[in-house]
Amino acid sequence: MIETKKISPARRHFLKVTTGIAAAGITASLLPTQASAKGFKFEPNHHHKKRWKKVQKEFVLDKKTTYMNIGTTGSMPKSVLENYQENNLSVAKNPWDMQNKFGAWPYVTEMTTSIAPGFGANANEIILSRNTTDGMCSILNGLHFEAGDVILTTHHEHVAAHSPLHVLAARYGVEVIYLDIPVDTGDNSITEQQFVDLFALAANQYAGRVRLITFSHITYKTGTRLPAKRICQEVAIPNQIPTLIDGAHSIGMLDLDFHDIDCDFYAGSGHKWQCGPGATGILFVRDGATRLDQYWSDCENPLWFINSSLGHADYLGTQLQLQYIGNDNYPAKQALTDACKMWDEIGRDTIETRVLSLSKYCKQQLKTAFPSAAIYSPDIDQLASAITSFNPFEDVNDLVTLTEFRDRLREQTGFIIRTTDFKIQQSDTVDTHALRISTHLFHDHNDVDGLINAMQHVLYSMS
Ligand SMILES: Cc1ncc(COP(=O)(O)O)c(C=O)c1O
Repeated sequence: MIETKKISPARRHFLKVTTGIAAAGITASLLPTQASAKGFKFEPNHHHKKRWKKVQKEFVLDKKTTYMNIGTTGSMPKSVLENYQENNLSVAKNPWDMQNKFGAWPYVTEMTTSIAPGFGANANEIILSRNTTDGMCSILNGLHFEAGDVILTTHHEHVAAHSPLHVLAARYGVEVIYLDIPVDTGDNSITEQQFVDLFALAANQYAGRVRLITFSHITYKTGTRLPAKRICQEVAIPNQIPTLIDGAHSIGMLDLDFHDIDCDFYAGSGHKWQCGPGATGILFVRDGATRLDQYWSDCENPLWFINSSLGHADYLGTQLQLQYIGNDNYPAKQALTDACKMWDEIGRDTIETRVLSLSKYCKQQLKTAFPSAAIYSPDIDQLASAITSFNPFEDVNDLVTLTEFRDRLREQTGFIIRTTDFKIQQSDTVDTHALRISTHLFHDHNDVDGLINAMQHVLYSMS
């Protein structure tokens, strides 16, 4: 196994203020400073509870409800929101030069420079995209495929992957193999090794034909976290297969280090767990995608970019060719940057610990309150996330009853969660349905207890 070193938070902070700026070829004095938010302070000397109360106060979520559907979309913190509004006003007042708020063209250099270290990436490896779907489509539609090529993925992917994969199959005759990943049904018996073995077996079965491995770091259906680093390092790299990870749910939830994971591409949302504005995302492209030249030396041009106009954009390099989408929403990208800076200030490792422990508590309380309920999110540290999927009803195929439960919960108690559906095994003839709970940094144990009480109450009223 290849050993790579994880960058410590302290080192990340150091990189943020020094190397990142140097890498962008600009000096600190030239950076535009007015665009970013005033900055949230996570007081290290405050008592644990007081610190998190301060975080909670940063969110303007409707107090009459308890919002637990971050998996669909998050909510901007107050300071981010205020600065977003200010920047929108500046752009509206001065559309031409935007009062030089975002620096020189391409206007995002300071943004990518300041957030890249928080993700264990270099500044020129980060593209501020529109969302996960945009990132997935940009890469999948950019890669060079031919008839007979194989792409390995899983049977629990989102339409953000399904849709472009379908296009590749229809357009080029690419064979997309949907691997049946293990789904936990409450006994916590699945293992990381099962996922690694599954991909390894398929890479071996289709040896020489597999041109891409793509999977969700955290599935949106059950919240299962796949062993991304192990799949990259133990399966993809030794077989010279590029990797594209759908990180819709991990950005802002986990303390990610893209270099450590060792994937080629990582596409995620800025508007979900990272709590940036709508239509923002983060796309990581490792080292200008140069590993593709090594893997696909038979290809003259293994990756086409959004801006691939020859002679015009070549000199810009990979990052800007993917970044350039015509005129952009710079206040939104700044707001995403501001949210990332707030996460860096709190500490991404601190946030990960907090949200995973809340989700663990949620699973354990669910087990106690609904002993016969099916819980599809593993309570196994390496495979767990801040998403909990479960179904308290005996008939887990009954969507009508579950939908009524979800709606009553919202209308009668103010707890907002959603439903998901999936096949436990691909060959299942009917869908399994589940409720999906997202626990984030603005929640606490009282919110989880309140949710469980509310669910017991609604279930009782329906019986
Ligand atoms: C696994 C996964 N991928 C992609 C997406 C799409 O995300 P976005 O809205 O950022 O494009 C979602 C949205 O829920 C998702 O759950």
